[in-house]
Amino acid sequence: MLIVTGATGQLGSRIVERLLERVPADQVGVSVRDPSRATSLADRGVRVRAADFTEPATLAHALEGASRVLVLSAAIRGAGAVAANLAALDAARDAGAERVLYTSHQAASPVSAFLPQHTHAATEEHLAGLGVPFTALRNGFYASTLGLHLDEALRTGRMALPEDGPVSWTAHADLAEAAAIALASGGGLDGVTAPLTAPHLLDLADVAAVVADLVGRPVTRVVVADEEWAASAVARGMPPAAAEFTLGMFRAARAGEFAVTDPALESVLGRPAVPVREVLQGLLPQHA
Ligand SMILES: NC(=O)c1ccc[n+]([C@@H]2O[C@H](COP(=O)([O-])OP(=O)(O)OC[C@H]3O[C@@H](n4cnc5c(N)ncnc54)[C@H](OP(=O)(O)O)[C@@H]3O)[C@@H](O)[C@H]2O)c1
Repeated sequence: MLIVTGATGQLGSRIVERLLERVPADQVGVSVRDPSRATSLADRGVRVRAADFTEPATLAHALEGASRVLVLSAAIRGAGAVAANLAALDAARDAGAERVLYTSHQAASPVSAFLPQHTHAATEEHLAGLGVPFTALRNGFYASTLGLHLDEALRTGRMALPEDGPVSWTAHADLAEAAAIALASGGGLDGVTAPLTAPHLLDLADVAAVVADLVGRPVTRVVVADEEWAASAVARGMPPAAAEFTLGMFRAARAGEFAVTDPALESVLGRPAVPVREVLQGLLPQHA
C-alpha cells in the first residue's frame, strides 16, 4: 500500500488525486489528523486512518502495511517541528516501508536565514540515516505564497515589502504531480533530489509587473526597511514572532537562497511547469 500523510492539506490532497490517476484506490492509504475531512477519499476506496506526528503512538496504525510512505512535512513552526517529522519517518520505517519519501525544500540548509529550512535539513539528515531507500523531494517555493501580498497590493496599488530576491516560484499542482509520480513509480527520483522548481526566477518587482498586467492597473513595488515592515505588520495584528519568521523569508530570498532553477521537475512531469503568471491569475479572484 502507498501511504500519503497530510492528505487533507493543500499539497497532500493534490498528491492523492494525482496518485489515484496512477494506482487503484485500494492500494492507496492516507494518514490524516481528522478523518472526517477525508470522507470523500474513503468513499472512493482509499484507506483513511488518523495520526498526528506529535503523538507518535498514533502513527503505527495509520502506516500499517505500507510499502512506501510519503511523509508530508508537517506545518509546525518552532522546536517541535523536527521531532514531529522524525517520528513520522521512524514510523514509516517501522511499518516496513521499502521506500520513504519526504517533502523537503529546494533551500533546505542548517544555516538558512529562513527557519523552516533548518527543519528540512535536519529531517533530510535523519531520512538519509533511516536505513531504507529514500527520496527527499526538494520542492521549490510555493507560488501560492504570493497570495499573501495580493490583497494589499490590489487595494493600495503598492507592493510594499522588505527587500527580496529572485525566487523560482513553483505551483502546488506541479509539485503534487511530481510527488505522486515519485511515490507510484519512482520517476527516477532517489535520494536528495535536484531542486524541483519552475524554470523562471521572479523577484517581487517582476511579480508586481505581472499582477499589474493581469489586473490592468499599476502595482508598484516599494522596498520597505525590515524594521519598518515588521512594525507595520505587528500594528496590523501579526504576532511579533510571526513577523520575525516572515522577515527570515525575505532575508533568505535576498541572499539568493531561492534563486535556483533546475530542469528536473519538468523532466519528471514530461511537460512545462505551470508559470507563476497562471498561479497569480488563479489567486486573483480571491483578492480582487
Ligand atoms: N515549498 C514551500 O514553499 C513551502 C511553503 C510552505 C510550507 N511548506 C511545507 O509544505 C507542507 C505542505 O504544504 P501545504 O501547502 O499543503 O500546507 P497546508 O495546506 O497548510 O497543510 C499543512 C499540512 O501539515 C500537516 N500537519 C500539520 N500538523 C501536523 C501534525 N501535527 N501531524 C501530522 N501532520 C500535520 C497537515 O496534515 P492534515 O492533512 O492531517 O491536516 C497538512 O497536510 C507544509 O506543511 C510545510 O511543511 C512548503
